[in-house]
Amino acid sequence: MTDHSQLEADLSAQIAAAADLEALDQIRVAALGKSGVVSARLKSLGSMSPEDRRTEGPAINGLRDRLAAAIAARKAELEDAALEASLAAGRVDLSLPAPPRRHGAVHPILQVMDEMIAVFAEMGFGVAEGPDIEDDFHNFTALNFPPRHPAREMHDTFFLKPGPDGERKLLRTHTSPIQVRVMRKANIAVGAPQFEVYQAPPIRIVGPGRVYRCDSDATHAPMFHQMEGLVIDRAIHMGHLKWTLDAFVRRFFEAENVVTRFRPHHFPFTEPSAEMDVQCDRSGGQIRIGEGTDWLEILGGGMVHPNILRNVGLDPDEWQGFAFGMGIDRLAALKYGMPDLRDMFSGDVRWLEHYGFSAFADPNPASGLS
Ligand code: PHE
Repeated sequence: MTDHSQLEADLSAQIAAAADLEALDQIRVAALGKSGVVSARLKSLGSMSPEDRRTEGPAINGLRDRLAAAIAARKAELEDAALEASLAAGRVDLSLPAPPRRHGAVHPILQVMDEMIAVFAEMGFGVAEGPDIEDDFHNFTALNFPPRHPAREMHDTFFLKPGPDGERKLLRTHTSPIQVRVMRKANIAVGAPQFEVYQAPPIRIVGPGRVYRCDSDATHAPMFHQMEGLVIDRAIHMGHLKWTLDAFVRRFFEAENVVTRFRPHHFPFTEPSAEMDVQCDRSGGQIRIGEGTDWLEILGGGMVHPNILRNVGLDPDEWQGFAFGMGIDRLAALKYGMPDLRDMFSGDVRWLEHYGFSAFADPNPASGLS
């Protein structure tokens, strides 16, 4: 019978004296590893007589278990000590204020777009979108701009280089092509899936998006934003258009007393057509909505021209409706008092920090629109 007590005493002393985790692991390998001393003794059980094994088995297994427990305990001790040491060395003062972080902000245009959609959603409108790069058909021809008609020049269009087939694509000059995409069944499977927005009438949609015209001064930018509206049903008339837009303006500006005015106008795609102004006060260098004696044009609209309905394959004797298009940027500038439209697109972070909105300011009828 081998006496294990000397080995146990030696190893226990080594374990207790291990100065760090690495030293401790070396002791563990030397004792309990594959070719460690304790493992060798365990292996020797195989060649013992059954009687010897009966006494040696529990003795060596016990030795192994006690050593393993001692190593685990020392390991925990050393780990605690290491943590204490690192805490003592790198002190963190939890009472210090956190360094300020820059927050992103929602651009007022996107915020206002969401506000407008929220108002129209209350009236049962859905949302449709179209591509910024359009073709002549959707931007002009389907909308009743005759070929070579001067009305096409009305929008100073940015054209792209002609493609291999000679077709000149363009940057859409208004959001009205969205109407064509919504009404025209033949558009299904043409272009990107998010622009496959065909709906069978009755239709009630708004279509927000970027539009482009070669034009730039304090109140015009070459890229700006519009929101199209389209309602097609069997007995829609101009009165519905006026009510809808009046209701929109009051809700959007959160002012019951805003006065609007409709002036006759011409658009190739509506008949009759009108522009709508809102009452405002321009004295003192600021525009205030719902006061004073001035007027500010904010949108165009009218009854969808029968030619458009024919162009998209709807029977004008069965379906009729109204359409409107309004400038989102101008509405944003008016609501939140921004004097120069061009600032909106200059990318100046200070401007955005001043006029931007919190990402959590999600406009909806329950929590408020602004
Ligand atoms: N598309 C017109 C514009 O950009 C606005 C409009 C839209 C007018 C729909 C009538 C109907 O000026």
